Amino acid sequence: MPVSKAWPYPRWVAHRGGGVAAPENTLAGMRAAVSNGYRMAEFDAKLSRDGVAVLMHDATLERTTNGQGPAGDLTFAELARLDAGSWHSPAFTGEPVPTLEAVARYARAVGLACNVEIKPTPGLESVTGTQVALQCASLWEGCDVAPLLSSFSLEALEAARAACPQLALGIITAKFEPGLVDALKRLDCVSVHLLHKELTRERVAGLRDAGFRVAAWTINDPARALELIDWGVDAVITDEIVRIDPRPRT
Ligand code: G3P
Ligand code: MG
Repeated sequence: MPVSKAWPYPRWVAHRGGGVAAPENTLAGMRAAVSNGYRMAEFDAKLSRDGVAVLMHDATLERTTNGQGPAGDLTFAELARLDAGSWHSPAFTGEPVPTLEAVARYARAVGLACNVEIKPTPGLESVTGTQVALQCASLWEGCDVAPLLSSFSLEALEAARAACPQLALGIITAKFEPGLVDALKRLDCVSVHLLHKELTRERVAGLRDAGFRVAAWTINDPARALELIDWGVDAVITDEIVRIDPRPRT
């Protein structure tokens, strides 16, 4: 059976917002993606202490901001004072940690499709899945292309599914495992997001024959990206948004 689920998403996806061209998980990253021709961005969402969904990859602040400790320990007002750009390069000094709301507003205004990775603070999987899903449903209400939600955490995805049955979900995994298709069916997912090294032509065909779209991460070699597309991969998630031009191929 070929894939049949709705998939309104572009093939080329900027990883963590703007890949390596701008600080990850910032609006500056999204703008870099758009100005380089990308029509979709993947980014990571977690909750502040007071329940605001913000973009942040790590559980802790040190690598990508001038803050310290667990990101989930700070209120949004505290997170909003941090510099999330200097770590990348001086040009981005002062770039703030964005809310999911701000990113939704920008993405809707410019027609950027979004893959919202639910990246819970450890221990907060369920509440993060619920809150990110509810906020996505509200922020993208009435939009032609709703965001695709994905997570490594099945618990977060279960909570998202329960909160918002209408949203498209995908399982992220770094390992192609035997129970994968059963989990995709159980959560009524549209897609699986696999570490690209786990993919073979046969695995891509098998997943698509089972009815699921395949997204691959993180591909920074143009030749490898084209190979995966030849195998039928539906989405290529890349950091190399300048070196890999999506325009002639989307
Ligand atoms: O969504 C795929 C990819 O982003 C997963 O890895 O660590 O960059 O969030 P990570
Ligand atoms: Mg991610």
